[in-house]
Amino acid sequence: MRRLLRVLGWILGVLVVAWLGVCAYLAVRHPRVVFTAGELARPATPLPKGFLWGTATSSHQLEGGNTNDWTRFEAQPGAIERGETSAVSADHWNRMAEDVALMKAIHVNAYRFSIEWSRLEPQVGVWNEEAWARYGDLVRQLHEAGITPAVTLLHFALPIWMADRGGVAAPEFPERFGRFAAEAGRRLGPGVDLWITLNEPNVQMYMGYVLGAWPPQKKSPPEAIRAFAGLLRGHAAAAAALRAADPGARIGVANNVMLLEPKSRLMLGDWLGSLFVDQFWNWSFADAIRNGRARLRLPGATLDERIDGLVGSADFFGLNYYFRYFVRLAPRTPELFAMEPGPGLRSELGGTSPVGDSPPEALFQLMREAWKRYRLPIAITEGGIADDKETMRGPLIRGQFEAIQRARAEGIETFSYFHWTLVDNFEWEKGYRPRFGLYRLDRQTLARTPAGGSDVFAALSPPQ
Ligand code: FCB
Repeated sequence: MRRLLRVLGWILGVLVVAWLGVCAYLAVRHPRVVFTAGELARPATPLPKGFLWGTATSSHQLEGGNTNDWTRFEAQPGAIERGETSAVSADHWNRMAEDVALMKAIHVNAYRFSIEWSRLEPQVGVWNEEAWARYGDLVRQLHEAGITPAVTLLHFALPIWMADRGGVAAPEFPERFGRFAAEAGRRLGPGVDLWITLNEPNVQMYMGYVLGAWPPQKKSPPEAIRAFAGLLRGHAAAAAALRAADPGARIGVANNVMLLEPKSRLMLGDWLGSLFVDQFWNWSFADAIRNGRARLRLPGATLDERIDGLVGSADFFGLNYYFRYFVRLAPRTPELFAMEPGPGLRSELGGTSPVGDSPPEALFQLMREAWKRYRLPIAITEGGIADDKETMRGPLIRGQFEAIQRARAEGIETFSYFHWTLVDNFEWEKGYRPRFGLYRLDRQTLARTPAGGSDVFAALSPPQ
């Protein structure tokens, strides 16, 4: 009996040591970084001349007057909070000159915007010359103002004809999207060097095909897998078309990444959960581009497939950052783990929707990880906060600036920061409540006034 107890004691001891050893190894591999208040308050060292210090927008959220799969979705009762729609938004389509002047006033030197596929190709193969000319004109105005344009080809919303043929999961999507990219490269290429083929493909796949909360409102793992593969093929086709049309093009994807940490660094289950979600959410798409092979696992559906044209198709890693979450094992839930927002700068949407839970250290850690994985220059393609009270945007921008400076000091090549966003706009299913703008929008008069934090943004713009 005593021998048995001794053996059991040994086994338990070995298990505890192994457990602690693995946790210690993981903790060393994934160190937590903390910026002190003093560091964040010290005078900012300027970014180098040529660093792109910009703002980011998307056509469907800002322009008003679009007709696409989102417009159709918005007409469904209950789809958008308070029944709001994108019909007017900030009327950017008719106010481009005014908005370029607003950018100039806060020392924006780069502007990321998306071109609206549904306007440019209202029917399959039919180009809308007037719409192309309007974007061509925007590119000209930006150059005149000393602002570098960065163009996104797809920021979630699809032409209705494309949605009706099966959207991004349709077998013909890559080819159609490739043609659109070729047209964009041919027409706008001379004035645009920086291209983002896709905005947040993981979000598009997850919201549209797993949660079913966004168009096309599917909850189907096999469809989600098709959408993911379709987006990868679409990216490859678009990148090839852009390179052919515009040999100097710098091409990338804007990836939504969040910092995922174990709730307890002593719980192996929490580590497992955070590492799993991290791989699934943050890196599956970019890994596929690096490896030329798409891998994704969802309950009941798996993707493991070589895709041509992916390797070498990205010149930079576009990083959109908003969230940090703590992951813990939750054996009683269907997913087996649960995610909780971490402390940090929490927007007024905190609680139910932690948009803006964005401590700068998390951005820094994500930049480090992306650089370690891909060794591609990093473009921060989005960072921002919903800040109705206008007290958090300034500290957020200052913190994100610090994260970039830290990363650069460590040798992590980083060439842009695009703040989301220029003017308050249509924030997808949340309507107009979240105010992300460097300018506040009066929805009645459409007047724009500088929002809290725009002074901080202007002051940190690199020297001309
Ligand atoms: C990003 C989206 C962008 C906007 C911001 C707040 O994930 O790319 O369109 O909704 O969040």
